Amino acid sequence: MGFTLKNKRFTKVTLNEYTKNSIYLDPEKAQDYFNYIQRNPTNLIEQKTVKSLFPKLENKTCLEIGCAGAIYGREMLNKRALQVDSIDYSSAMIKLAKKITKDTINYHLKDINHEFHLYKTYDFICASFVFHYSRNLSKTLKNIIKLINPKGILLFSVPNPEKHKKKENLLYLGHQKSPTKFYNHSEKEYLDILTPYGFVIDFEKKEDFIVVKFMKSE
Ligand SMILES: C[S@@+](CC[C@H](N)C(=O)[O-])C[C@H]1O[C@@H](n2cnc3c(N)ncnc32)[C@H](O)[C@@H]1O
Repeated sequence: MGFTLKNKRFTKVTLNEYTKNSIYLDPEKAQDYFNYIQRNPTNLIEQKTVKSLFPKLENKTCLEIGCAGAIYGREMLNKRALQVDSIDYSSAMIKLAKKITKDTINYHLKDINHEFHLYKTYDFICASFVFHYSRNLSKTLKNIIKLINPKGILLFSVPNPEKHKKKENLLYLGHQKSPTKFYNHSEKEYLDILTPYGFVIDFEKKEDFIVVKFMKSE
């Protein structure tokens, strides 16, 4: 089955036919995706909203989760963070980000769907449009909460859960409209997992995404 967008034909797949999110893993598609999010209106609104919720970062240790082209890692550096680390499960994305940020950010190949260790903790973690790739949200968030310092902040965005069906979904992303599988978790699931460990100090709901700013308890 196919559909047409701006005179191009794209292939629609079903969740059963789908294999992996090659948009992030394939170097050519990763570059196309990064070009796309620098112009796509939803991403531009998301970037503006997320950046507007950044705390003061001078002398703070920071982590970006799901770096793509390090849009938020670079913002952390602009805000004079002491140190910026970044994780992504795609070596193609890390290569692309490294080309831009050189040795100013430390990159680690890590998958949020597996328990991972970075052997340090952070004052600020930004995870933009990545937690919806978690198959087990509770495991992923609990692993990440361990990385936050007391009174540290986790800022994240995900596609608006109300706009998608429960659990597995396919989105068609980038100029090439690549099928991309994600797991829709409800707003309540995010908040129920987080709140035993701290407080939601800001919450924004836009048409296409939500943004949550969470502070870990002392
Ligand atoms: C939708 S993009 C968001 C990129 C970036 N945060 C932005 O908006 O500028 C998702 C990013 O998360 C990464 N990613 C996807 N699934 C992941 C996983 N399971 N573990 C770690 N990173 C993942 C992708 O490689 C990609 O860089």
